[in-house]
Amino acid sequence: MIYDNVLQLIGNTPIVKLNYLPDPYGAQVFIKLEGLNPGGSMKDRTALYIISQAEAAGQLKPGGTIVESSSGNLAIGLALVARQKGYKLICVVDPKISLVNLSIIQAYGAETVMVDQADEYGNYLRARLDKVQELVKQLGAFWPNQYNNPSNPEAHRQTTALEIYEAFGNELQWAVIPAGTCGLITGCSLGLKEHIPHIKIMAVDAAGSVTFGKPPGVRHQIGIGSAIVPGNVRRELYDEITHVSDAEAFSTTRRLVKEEGLLVGGSAGAAVFAALKLARRLPGGDKVLAILPDRGDRYYNTIFSDEWLEQIGIELGKSAVKI
Ligand SMILES: Cc1ncc(COP(=O)(O)O)c(C=O)c1O
Repeated sequence: MIYDNVLQLIGNTPIVKLNYLPDPYGAQVFIKLEGLNPGGSMKDRTALYIISQAEAAGQLKPGGTIVESSSGNLAIGLALVARQKGYKLICVVDPKISLVNLSIIQAYGAETVMVDQADEYGNYLRARLDKVQELVKQLGAFWPNQYNNPSNPEAHRQTTALEIYEAFGNELQWAVIPAGTCGLITGCSLGLKEHIPHIKIMAVDAAGSVTFGKPPGVRHQIGIGSAIVPGNVRRELYDEITHVSDAEAFSTTRRLVKEEGLLVGGSAGAAVFAALKLARRLPGGDKVLAILPDRGDRYYNTIFSDEWLEQIGIELGKSAVKI
């Protein structure tokens, strides 16, 4: 297959069965590898769709500027799409961003602005959003506003969910989906429930996130969890909600590469941790799909670094993490 440009490579990611981690007496577990998008995550889909919609609505004019707050993956997706379409991108980031991500964003040619004021739990979201407002006003720029923009879930309703339906037909009982801005989970829930009425959705949140009404706490997972309740959250669409700790997410991420050959990110580890637990209580004939948002090479200096884990107080060998 020969493609005309890199943007045509976005979407149509593969689905693979897990062969070693699941309990042989439980449901089968499959994963959708969103890290195989050209920018390395499912946010390429969101970026492409949001920019296309903004163009259609006249919010983005040729040569215009885009300003967004992102933990990394949307920034990378936007950087890729913006550059290809001739827009300037300014990303507001914070000190929790992986150095690898920062370098990737800059390699695509985007500008970065770093905020430094954390709240009492070490989260920077509010500071980032304030900075975005300031820049948008100052530059007359377009703000994708991923937390509240309906185009964020819509991108996944139209593409990710459809691809899953095309792969499984009606033969899928559960989809396990990590929640950050809730674009991925809300879009997939809407699309999947349209096509597969009996499907159940499990939302995977980070311990310490406030999205589903729990008190805020310290967390080191990136992309998953939130310090504010996202506008795109649609609680009524999610059949179960589970909170995964940093240790559970990171230990599963490490097991995925060693045991299944899948080098994926921390939210992928969280999703698989939740999917494996779920699969154990389901009958053998059932199928569970976990969506794995990004690939693991972004996390060499964090999740795959023993020193980093030690710094944040996680001892994987000693922690009683059981799937
Ligand atoms: C690695 C990773 N996992 C999960 C998510 C959550 O996706 P969403 O923001 O669509 O809820 C993100 C979002 O940036 C992410 O970067």
